[in-house]
Amino acid sequence: MVRRSSLVVTKAGNVGVERNIMSKKKADAIVTELKKKVVETCRAVYTSGLTGKRAGNISTRIPNRDQMIITPSHYGHNKTEVGDLLVVNFDGSLASGTRPPSSENRMHLAVYKARPDVGAVIHTHSAYACVLAVNRMSIPPFIDEMVPFLGGEIAIADYGMPGSDELAANAVKGLGDRSAVLLANHGVLCTGKNLEKALEAAEIAEHTAKVYVTALTIGKPILLPDDAVDLQKSAYGFLRDSAD
Ligand code: 13P
Repeated sequence: MVRRSSLVVTKAGNVGVERNIMSKKKADAIVTELKKKVVETCRAVYTSGLTGKRAGNISTRIPNRDQMIITPSHYGHNKTEVGDLLVVNFDGSLASGTRPPSSENRMHLAVYKARPDVGAVIHTHSAYACVLAVNRMSIPPFIDEMVPFLGGEIAIADYGMPGSDELAANAVKGLGDRSAVLLANHGVLCTGKNLEKALEAAEIAEHTAKVYVTALTIGKPILLPDDAVDLQKSAYGFLRDSAD
């Protein structure tokens, strides 16, 4: 049996202990299901052309545990299977798995620690996001879709070496409360409540980057009016926190 205790505050203001008891079998089944979803997402990012087969990494939080499931380092998204995935504790130690975990595991952990609403993180090297990342350009709110789905601007995070704590800290800072951030000279990181939503954020971020880069080649994109951004931001909070 897995026993988990947490402090709760009742409506009357009393503090008590809530104990959830879940069978080990049930907890393992949840982890296996999440691993299957990570594998599906690996295939999706690769077959959609969002990123190369060894570029980028994918993770998902394991609910009610300070752990995440993450893809192995330098291993093709086209061939990653459930048995290749790693479980990493929030202190950075390896809980299970035989391959080395993604070299960006610190960046994924930093996002989960800073953003309790985030259940999945996808880092890609999608082409148009990289075009902006190498120019160290952020994307201002200029097209409706990016505000309700990504939270507004896609900021450019300061540069940090791949795999470093500096990159992790810069990514978290640039992400803020939004769902996408460009990583200087590197790529893009996207988040979601679950893997489906993180994948959607990665697709929308790349589409947004493509439209922005293309628009810059023929003119100067007009930004959304401030009142439209404010209104759409309230929709973002709702969409970000809904499961689908
Ligand atoms: P990993 O293969 O170690 O996940 O690294 C790929 C990558 O994109 C580094 O930023």
